[in-house]
Amino acid sequence: MGTFGKSIVKGNVDEIVALLNKAYADEWLAHYQYFIGSKVVKGIMKEAVIAELVQHAADELRHATMVADRIIQLGGTPLLHPKDWLAHSVCGYDAPENPQVLEVLAQNIKGEQCAISVYERLAEATKDKDIITFNMANQIIADEVLHEEELQALQEDILGFIETFKGRV
Ligand SMILES: [Fe+2]
Ligand SMILES: [Fe+2]
Repeated sequence: MGTFGKSIVKGNVDEIVALLNKAYADEWLAHYQYFIGSKVVKGIMKEAVIAELVQHAADELRHATMVADRIIQLGGTPLLHPKDWLAHSVCGYDAPENPQVLEVLAQNIKGEQCAISVYERLAEATKDKDIITFNMANQIIADEVLHEEELQALQEDILGFIETFKGRV
C-alpha cells in the first residue's frame, strides 16, 4: 500500500474497496462464462462466435487484474476464494446449459449490460473522490460497451443469415 497515494482518496476507502471486490467477482465469473462458452458453443457461424468469446475472456481476465491491483493499492484484499465470487457478484453467472449460439450470445449480452451498469456506478461513486479508480472504471466501461456492441453485431448477422436462408427454401 502506498500511503501518500492512498491518502489522496477523498471518499470512504472501505466502501470503494467493497465496490471493487464486487466488480472483481464479476470479472472472474465473466471470464469463466466466456471461456466455457467458447468451448461448448454450437450452431451456425460458430467459428466467428468462438473467436469473439475467446477475445472477451482475455479482456475480462485483464480487467480482473486491473481491479485486483487497484484493491491492493488501496490497502484492501481481493477476494481470496472462488466461492466468494458468486456471493459478492452483482451480475451473477449464467451457465451455457443451452449451447446454441443465439442462446450463448443472449446470456453474454445480458452480462455485458450488467457490467456496464456496475462500472457506471463505480465511476459515479469515485468521481471527484478517487481519480485512479474513476479513470480505471472509465477505461473498463469503454471495453464493456465495445463487447456489447460486438456481440449484438454477431447476433444481428446470425439472425440476418437465418432470415435470408428461410426466404430461399
Ligand atoms: Fe470486464
Ligand atoms: Fe465484457
